[in-house]
Parts: sequence; structure tokens; C-alpha cells
Amino acid sequence: MRRKLLLGNWKMNKTSKEALTFAKQTDELVKIAKENNVDLGVAPTYLSLQIVKENVSCDMIVASQNCHFEDYGAFTGEISIPMLKDIDISWCIIGHSERRSYDNETDEKCNKKIKALFANKMVPVYCVGETLTQFENGQTKEVVERQIRIGLKDLTKDEVKNLVVAYEPVWSIGTGKNASKEIAEDVCKFIRDILCDMFGEVSEDIRILYGGSVKPDNIKQYLSCPDVDGALVGGASLNIDSYKQLLINII
Ligand code: 13P
Repeated sequence: MRRKLLLGNWKMNKTSKEALTFAKQTDELVKIAKENNVDLGVAPTYLSLQIVKENVSCDMIVASQNCHFEDYGAFTGEISIPMLKDIDISWCIIGHSERRSYDNETDEKCNKKIKALFANKMVPVYCVGETLTQFENGQTKEVVERQIRIGLKDLTKDEVKNLVVAYEPVWSIGTGKNASKEIAEDVCKFIRDILCDMFGEVSEDIRILYGGSVKPDNIKQYLSCPDVDGALVGGASLNIDSYKQLLINII
């Protein structure tokens, strides 16, 4: 049985002070989540990771939005996995579409990062999804399959049982045009089938999230889909009341 997962991606939002204010209001939510078998988390900016981690319950997931695949070296502006581990961060989003489009994050680079994360016993949240043009041209599955097969190449069954995949159609991110639950289920099921082909029955343990304009009033439909195990939420995770409502609406 896969546990539900609600993860807020704060992107480039919140100063450390704002992040701290949010963090201090999460205790009750973590309790509610735990009682209802939901894993709850947020992904603050690098600068706020530590302050958030230190001010939330240990049951709350605090994820990085990115990492480098090398442990150290001449990579100006980057943060390594040992640096994240040093502040007790054990989750990391990889391959978000904004990084794919603005920072040349390729499937090959994602693969290196995911391998490095697993080598460090961390949990990657691997994001995949098609652009509007690809969607309109009927290429969704072809694109997603490539992202999955390259991004997860050469991983072991043992590693991927802790993997989280997020299907985020690019056309639905920040646009208010959320995918229908039928599309979400169809693509998430397709992803699970590829995972099964690559890794066998461990694919049943891998959590697959939907992301893209998820709001308190539309989240429930996604969680009713058999292959959607949770949501990766941007805008609606920034405000504590809306974040709480997202949680309440899936328990
Ligand atoms: P929105 O929920 O703001 O559409 O963002 C989705 C997303 O990109 C989460 O990673």
C-alpha cells in the first residue's frame, strides 16, 4: 500500500524569515497528516532549507529543489549532496520542468543526480512531463517514456523502491489549466507500466505524483485515481491556509 504524499514546491519564493514563519505553523498539520497516513513536505529554496528543517517536526519532509551530482569542486553556484546531508536533508526534487527549460537540465544530467542521490541513501523526486506543443502533437507518452528511461537508467530495483516520480505537464504548471483526472491517471499508469518494464514488481511501491495547478478545490480528484499517489504543488503550497486545505481535502 503506497502512502499518500503531499509535497509543496516553493520554487523561488519566501525569504528565510517568511519560510520560518510558515515552518512554525506546521506542527498541527504534520500531526493530522500522520494520523491519516499522509506524508507531508515542502521544498524551500537552498537558503531556507536549514531554518525550515530545524523548525518543523522530524515527520515533515524537507526537500531540496535541486543538487549537483559531484560531491565538491569548481561548480560555482551549485550545492552538493554532502552539503544537503550535512543539514539533514534527505529528499531532493530532480528535473523540474523549470530547471529543464531555464537551466539545461537534461535527462542524462538528471540520471547522474538521481544515481548520486541513491548512492547517498536520499530520496529523489523525479519530475517528468511534456510541453504544450508536445501535448498538442500527441507526443506526451513518447516524451515521458524517454524522460523515464534515460533519467532512471542503470538504477537497481532496490534503489527505485524509494523513488518518487512526479508527472507535471508543463502546460499545466502555474497556468491554472490543470490536467483532467483522466489525463493524470492515464499518464501516471503509463509511467508505472514503464517502471514495471524496467524494474519489475517494485514499480508497485513507487509513488507517482501529479503536479500542475493543483489547488484545494481540485486536489481530491487526483488522489481518487489508482495510480496517482499524491501531489506536487507550487502556488497553492505557499500560503499556510491553502496548504492546510490541500491536506484536509485528501484525507
Ligand atoms: P503550480 O502548482 O503553481 O502549477 O506548480 C506546479 C509545480 O511546478 C510544482 O512543482
